[in-house]
Parts: sequence; structure tokens; C-alpha cells
Amino acid sequence: MSVKCLRISVTDRCNLRCVYCRPLHDCAFIKDKEILSLDEIHRVVRLFADCGIDRVRLTGGEPLLRKNVTSLVEKLAATKGIRELTLTTNGVLLKQMADELKAAGLNRVNISIDSLEANSYRQITGYDCLSNVVGGIQKAIDVGLQPVKINAVILRGINHSQVVSLARMSIDLPVTVRFIEYCPTNKDTQPAEDYMPYGEIRRIIEGEFGALFDATIGHGNGPALYFKIKNSAGAIGFIAGRSTIFCETCNRIRLSCDGKIKPCLYSAQDYDIRQLIREGTSDEQIKSHMIKIIAQKHTFTRLNSSAKEFSMRKVGG
Ligand code: GTP
Ligand code: 5AD
Ligand code: SF4
Repeated sequence: MSVKCLRISVTDRCNLRCVYCRPLHDCAFIKDKEILSLDEIHRVVRLFADCGIDRVRLTGGEPLLRKNVTSLVEKLAATKGIRELTLTTNGVLLKQMADELKAAGLNRVNISIDSLEANSYRQITGYDCLSNVVGGIQKAIDVGLQPVKINAVILRGINHSQVVSLARMSIDLPVTVRFIEYCPTNKDTQPAEDYMPYGEIRRIIEGEFGALFDATIGHGNGPALYFKIKNSAGAIGFIAGRSTIFCETCNRIRLSCDGKIKPCLYSAQDYDIRQLIREGTSDEQIKSHMIKIIAQKHTFTRLNSSAKEFSMRKVGG
């Protein structure tokens, strides 16, 4: 599988504190000077595009918190060779930013919402902003940042009772609701036992709505499998990052907010592109590093990783 997709974490900051990502006591942020500037990110994308990358996803942390993110979107969307620019957001600021993001050239958004019930939304994210996110989803549909995908990480005993309501959204709205298996990433986040496997989540949905049928949908670069509930406006997806291994078909590499290229979400190995940039390395030299990293990408997999812990918000989920 050739590497076509670059996921960029543009900030490690976030306006939520989801239990599976960023617990309350974890509040050390990367220093500003260590974060890639917007011009540095643009340069990395321009050079990666010359090496065959044609899709970019902005993530975080919460990417909409990054100052001037819309101007970054505008620059990346206009970069030669980039044919799709997407963003993964928690949706809190989306309602007020969707118009400008669309106008700047963003193609579509994936929005996280782990519960449609105010109390459990607060229990998971630490904040009372469910209505902002629901408003953000509707606005994304209205301005045409489509197909809109909804991401829900399901944790046993915390939000598994929300599976049916979340799945129902795909009947009523033209959105793809994706259920994500929880991947424990470090000792400070939610206990690993709270993980719910894809098969169990699917059984809950089929128990309520009947058998799901296969639905291959056009827009997706990631590892999700897609289905539909009968007579629904949208679709259902599953991202089984724990119970299944999809490394062979992985087409992504990652850029962390502090300028490290990671060939795999789980790789202990990374490559410091920020240092090359700040040492004054030429475009041609940087590209030759990028070509080597892309060529070696498939030697790094979850199975052979020696990484013990990592931070989703720094690497970009
Ligand atoms: P599209 O399919 O293009 O819409 O994007 P995506 O699903 O890759 O993007 P998104 O940022 O919405 O990611 C959804 C979930 O998939 C997140 O929980 C990611 O951590 C997970 N994910 C994406 N790529 C990988 C991967 O290579 N390995 C694992 N284990 N999880 C991944
Ligand atoms: N396990 C699974 N998914 C996670 N995400 C963040 N942390 C984890 C984790 N530990 C998801 C977010 C968001 C996406 C980018 O990654 O919910 O939807
Ligand atoms: Fe923020 Fe996303 Fe982490 Fe939740 S999962 S705390 S929204 S970065």
C-alpha cells in the first residue's frame, strides 16, 4: 500500500479533557517555540506533496484552537499535489468556524461526540458543551463539509449505553457514525479493561436496528469498515484498532505538533524534521529524507513496535 496520506497534529492543546486521552492532572503543554510554525507546516506539506502525498488531515489536540488555522487551511488547500484536505475536531468551535474553513478550501470534517446525553458527555469530556458540538455537526452539514463523519470512542460502563442513540443519528442525518475501539495509550488514561470490542458494539446496534449491510463509501483514507442500517440517511463505521490489525493496508504517516515524523501511530522511532528545517537544510535534502521515511514506512507496525506509551494529542490520534 503506497503512502498517500499525512496526518498533522497542529497543536497538543485542547479545550476538552476526554478520559481516554487527557486526564485532569496531565497539563504539561509543549512550549510554543517547539511547535512547528504555520510556515514550517506548509513547507513540510509542500515537500511531502513532491514525494507523492496527496491527502492531508489536520488533527490535534483540538486543531481549531491553533491560532490562524484558517490561513493554514487556505495555504494547504492551494498546495500543488494536495487533492484532499480534511480535519478532525471535537466540534466545540466548529459552528462559528465552519463557514470560513469551507471558504478556505477545507473539504470535509470528522467530529468527535461520544455521547448525546449531557451528563455522560460531561463525564467523558469534562465540559458541558454538548449543544455546541451538536450545533457544529449541523453547521458542517449545512455548509457542505461533507461527508461528515462522527467519531465515538466506546468505553464499557461509561458510554456503551449511548451506542443505540449514536447509531440512530445515522438514520436521521446524512452522517457516518463511527464507533472506535478504545486504544489505551499511557498509564494516565482510562483503564484498558474499559475497552469494548467492535463485535460487541455491532451486536448492540444489530439487536436494535436489525442486520447491518455492507456500504462501501467513497470518502475514507483510514482503517474504518462501513455499513448501513436499512433505510438510513447516513452510514455506520467501525474502527477496530485494537481487536484487528490493519497495518498492511495503512497508507498514512504522521507529523507531530513538535515536528517529528512518525511512520506509525505506535512507532517508537520518529524523525526530527523540525531540526532539519531549523538547521537550514535544503528542500532537496529534506525530500530525500522524506523519500527514505516513506520507503521504510511498512517496516514499522503496531506488532513490532517497542513503544510503551504515547500521547494521542501530540501524535494526532
Ligand atoms: P477518513 O477515513 O479519511 O475519514 O479519516 P480517519 O478515520 O483516518 O480519521 P480520524 O482522524 O477521524 O480518525 C478516526 C480514528 O481512527 C482515530 O481514533 C484514529 O486514532 C484512528 N486511526 C486512524 N488511523 C489509524 C491507524 O493507522 N492506526 C490505528 N490504530 N488507528 C488509526
Ligand atoms: N483510543 C481511541 N480513539 C482515540 N481518540 C483519541 N484518543 C483515543 C484513544 N485512546 C480519538 C478521538 C478522535 C480521534 C481523532 O481519535 O475520539 O475522534
Ligand atoms: Fe481533546 Fe480529542 Fe483528546 Fe478529547 S480526544 S481531549 S477532544 S484531543
